[in-house]
Amino acid sequence: MINLNLAPNETFSDALTSFLLLFQPWRWKRGKEQDKVKKEILKKYLNVTHSTFYVSLFLSGRSALYHLLKSLNLQETDEVLVQAFTCEAVILPIVALNLKPVFFDIERKSFSANPIDLEKKLSEKSKVVILQHTFGIPPSQREKILSIIKQNNLVLIEDIAHGINIAKIKMKNAKLKNHFFLLSFGRSKSLSSVFGGAIITNNKKIAKKLDSFNLPYPSYSLIFKLLLYKPIAFITKLTYKIYLGKIIHFFSQKFNLLIPEITKKEKAGEYDHFFDKKYPNALAILLLNQLKHFSKTQNQRKKIVNFYLKNLNNVISYKVQGTGSIIRFPLLIKNRDKILQNLEKKGIFLGRWYDSPVAPKGFPLDKVGYRWGSCPKAEEVCQKIINLPTNNIKLNEAEKLTKILNDVIYENQNHK
Ligand SMILES: Cc1ncc(COP(=O)(O)O)c(C=O)c1O
Repeated sequence: MINLNLAPNETFSDALTSFLLLFQPWRWKRGKEQDKVKKEILKKYLNVTHSTFYVSLFLSGRSALYHLLKSLNLQETDEVLVQAFTCEAVILPIVALNLKPVFFDIERKSFSANPIDLEKKLSEKSKVVILQHTFGIPPSQREKILSIIKQNNLVLIEDIAHGINIAKIKMKNAKLKNHFFLLSFGRSKSLSSVFGGAIITNNKKIAKKLDSFNLPYPSYSLIFKLLLYKPIAFITKLTYKIYLGKIIHFFSQKFNLLIPEITKKEKAGEYDHFFDKKYPNALAILLLNQLKHFSKTQNQRKKIVNFYLKNLNNVISYKVQGTGSIIRFPLLIKNRDKILQNLEKKGIFLGRWYDSPVAPKGFPLDKVGYRWGSCPKAEEVCQKIINLPTNNIKLNEAEKLTKILNDVIYENQNHK
């Protein structure tokens, strides 16, 4: 079975760490790991030190973004430019603060900002640009975008929630006065502490502001549930084939043991203040465990990405920008939904990031001011995209997957 959505990051070591923590509640809220994890994040993500950059931690990326926007002294109806082909977690904090999201289109090479459309959408009210590194692929025209931002005196938030290919980024350019990085440690991101997010910046004043929000710690019962996720997910993954995993999954949902990634309120188009909480020490311990294996995970992802690039060459009709260790490998195909259904019958569950200009599908786009037709490339990609796993898959499974995809897609594109 190949399943991209089933706990892609969780290993035995993560499950054990989390399980043992269940019996050490005195380490759950405060502890030395909170500071340690900040240093590790700076080193591993951006290869910079603690003396020039500051890290502020939150319970989620969306809450980190909400508080960053709140710290920037923006006026109601000021515009935040953001790409279509993103998720609700990026848009809802903007709307919740009565700011206006203005959507710009993407380019197909990197699924990130198209600078020509970005420039077209600028107005007198534009104040912030969110530059998403979709799947962890660097925006192919990042330098150009940075110069547009500088010229127009805008704030830059680089959304590296999916990861960052630091080898391709010149950190020298992080000398913009208002330059922030948004990170997420959600369960489906490049590193997971189940939930979690951060802002990294060299702007001391804003960093201080971010740390001065007096957010509460999550309650003991919430931390307990968060700690249950890794052991449950690991056992579910291990036993999914023999149905036990499905039963465990069913009962953990029925008894509300796991906190969903997106709440009902968010799906309905409203920011949920539930996540406005401090990042507890228990999650810092989980993240440190993942950071310990950072290079190994990155290398595994790189190996699989290179394998796809080499072996899917019949069906890749565009060039993915750079290789690197991306969290999902994007592929554009015709008849996406039918093909995904057929693959599911063979026990292969792939992803659909993103199947709506603001994902997930069914999210009320009108509530966040998205106008159909305003970002045609993003809309086209939403119809065609599938994602292949890069971490949660062994090389022999990737071989099987590429063979099936080559056959299925070739047949679909050429004979129907
Ligand atoms: C591109 C992007 N940015 C930001 C976020 C926010 O992360 P979090 O789930 O930690 O709130 C997400 C998460 O879904 C995302 O996909």
